[in-house]
Parts: sequence; C-alpha cells; structure tokens
Amino acid sequence: MKLLVTGGAGFIGSNFIRFMNARHPQYAVTNFDALTYAGNLENLEGISESSSYRFIRGDIRDRQAVDSLLAEGFDAIINFAAESHVDRSIDNAAVFVETNVLGTQVLLDAALRNKVTLYLQVSTDEVYGSLGPEGLFTERTPISPNSPYSASKASADLFVRAWNETFGLKTLITRCSNNYGPYQFPEKLIPLFITNALAGEHLPLYGDGLNVRDWIYVEDHCSAIDTVLHHGRPGQVYNIGGNAEKTNREITATILQQLGKPESLIRHVADRPGHDRRYAIDNTKIRQELAWQPAHDFESGMRATIQWYLDNREWWRRVKSGAYRDFYERWYEKR
Ligand code: NAD
Ligand code: TYD
Repeated sequence: MKLLVTGGAGFIGSNFIRFMNARHPQYAVTNFDALTYAGNLENLEGISESSSYRFIRGDIRDRQAVDSLLAEGFDAIINFAAESHVDRSIDNAAVFVETNVLGTQVLLDAALRNKVTLYLQVSTDEVYGSLGPEGLFTERTPISPNSPYSASKASADLFVRAWNETFGLKTLITRCSNNYGPYQFPEKLIPLFITNALAGEHLPLYGDGLNVRDWIYVEDHCSAIDTVLHHGRPGQVYNIGGNAEKTNREITATILQQLGKPESLIRHVADRPGHDRRYAIDNTKIRQELAWQPAHDFESGMRATIQWYLDNREWWRRVKSGAYRDFYERWYEKR
C-alpha cells in the first residue's frame, strides 16, 4: 500500500508511522507535515533512514503542493495534521479554522481529483461536547462542540461526511479519546505535569481538578486506526477509547507518586473557559464490528510513559526551551 500520512511529525502521527513501519514494513509511507511548533522530526528518529519512508515538508492548506503530491497516486490518506491544543484555540482560533477546516477541505478536494482510494480523518471525541456524570459517547451522540478546537474538528468531520455523500469519496472518521505516551508535546496535561514535576516546577491544575478524561495509550490508538483503515466500512464513524476514565486529580496523584514528588507542587489555577466536564467513549462498535481492543491498561501505559520521559530528558528539554515558552508564559501568567 502507498500511504500519505499528514501531520506525521506530531505526537500521534509519528507514533503511527513507527507503528506501521513495524506492522507493515512493505508499505510506502510519505509523511507530509508543515513542522509547526508541534512538529518535530526528532520524533521519527530511527524511521527516517527506512527506505519505505519519506518526509516532505508542506502545508495541507497549500492546494498546489497537495495536488501535485497526490498526482503521484496514493491508496490512502490518513489526516493527522491539525492544530490540537484547546488552550491555544482559546488564545487564538484563526489558525484552527485555517488548518483544521480549510486544510481538510483542500485534502478532500485533492483526494477526489487524484482518485485516492480511501481518506481517513483522525478526529476526536471532543466533537461530542461534554457528558454529565453518567453515559458514554456513541457514534450516534449528536455533535456538540464547546471549544474553538472541537468546533474546528467537528466542522472538518462534517466536510468529510459531505465528500462521501455528495462526491462518493470513500471516507472513514475515527473519534478517539485523550491519548498519552512517548513524544507527546509537553503542553498537554500528562507530559506537562511529568516534565514540570521533574524540573521541580508547579503543576497548574484547572478549577477543582475533577474533570474527567478517558485515557488511551497512543499505541492503542495507532492499532485502532490501522484496523479501521483495513477493515472499516466507508462512510462510517468509529469511536476509539481505552476504557480508562480518570479525573485530573487522579492523573496528578499518579504522576507525583511515581516520581516521588510532593503534593505541594500542585497549584490550583483559574479554570479553562468552557471546560468540558467529562468525556467517556463507548467503543462497542469498533470492538464488535472490527474485533479491535486496546492492548494496554492505564497503569502499565502510565508507567511506560513516565519512564520514557525519564529516559528522554534531552528531547523534552529542547522542546520546552523553544518557541513554546512564549505561549506557556502568556497563558499561565494570567491564571
Ligand atoms: P500534534 O499537535 O502533536 O501534531 C500535529 C502535527 O500536525 C504537527 O506535526 C504539525 O507540524 C502538523 N501540522 C499542523 N498544521 C499543519 C498544516 N497546516 N499542514 C501540515 N501539517 C500541519 O497533534 P496530535 O496530538 O498528534 O494529534 C494528531 C491528530 O489527532 C489531530 O488531528 C488531533 O485532532 C487528533 N486527536 C488527538 C488526540 C490527543 O489526545 N492528542 C485525541 C484524539 C484525536
Ligand atoms: P489537555 O491535555 O489539554 O487535553 P484536552 O483539553 O484536549 O482534554 O487537558 C486534559 C485535562 O487536563 C483537561 O481537563 C484540562 C486539564 N489541564 C489542567 O488541569 N492543567 C493544564 O495545565 C492543562 C494543559 C490541562
């Protein structure tokens, strides 16, 4: 198979390329990524030498670049490229609309024009909005996004659906819960708190810390995308989740305990505006229809993740000293 992976230099995309390289070494993978602040070729160390892999720097908003690449002929596009951080979308939403919505539409148009067999959109459970204390998101839950980030992802999903219904493009949408694991950019909860704790810095916990996320180890997300790519029914949406609901306080306690750091590092800060209270995925459809299941439980996944950040201090120290610093200082200074 000849695959185009967009956004493959980010957290999940790079884990996916690594996963596919091991699982399907005969597949030719092109990674097309703009290398924004979140894209990092160091995430692909060890893969970049593989003869079945190639990297092209480019922007999914660039119609010409996308079109001339797709003219080469691909069996599938897996679109990871996105602005992905909710707090940044509150700070400035414009680029979220440009990349997540317009960029997706550029890819859909070019996929159709160049007869790409299959288009897979990597979406998120955040498009469903927020749950109360009971219930789970199913594929039939109405789309009801609350943040500029989730609004842009929901919007992209609707365009994907329309290209399937109107133009007959074979599309798939996956909606996964919160990921954690190696190479996650340390602006997201788990890597931010691990790296801050290791540096003896405060852990900024929003609001009462009782918001719930349903956590999945990134490799399980990758195996689910691989399964949907090969066996999913075109036009369908598949939820992906690891059955691991945790409050942010529980996550924080796990990190501090495993690192042997004191609770005094926790700093309660002002809540995120529009902060979704609870996400929880019903993964029955992908389990029953496609026989997928997660291979990692929360405890083993967190142990492996914390160990990875302990073993790769150079990676995150370099990342944290870059342009990311400006956003971090602006965002947390106000809180
Ligand atoms: P990330 O921010 O780590 O990586 C995004 C990648 O996209 C980066 O390499 C960046 O350089 C690239 N990119 C951004 N704008 C681009 C553009 N205009 N053209 C080309 N490349 C561009 O994000 P992630 O956490 O790896 O998430 C990947 C995808 O998975 C996103 O679509 C996100 O919405 C979705 N998702 C993420 C999670 C999660 O928990 N992180 C959960 C469910 C779904
Ligand atoms: P995040 O990793 O940003 O993912 P998302 O908002 O997409 O779910 O946040 C996960 C949870 O952690 C969310 O409830 C917000 C909370 N959070 C904090 O309490 N402090 C922080 O500094 C960050 C980044 C997140």
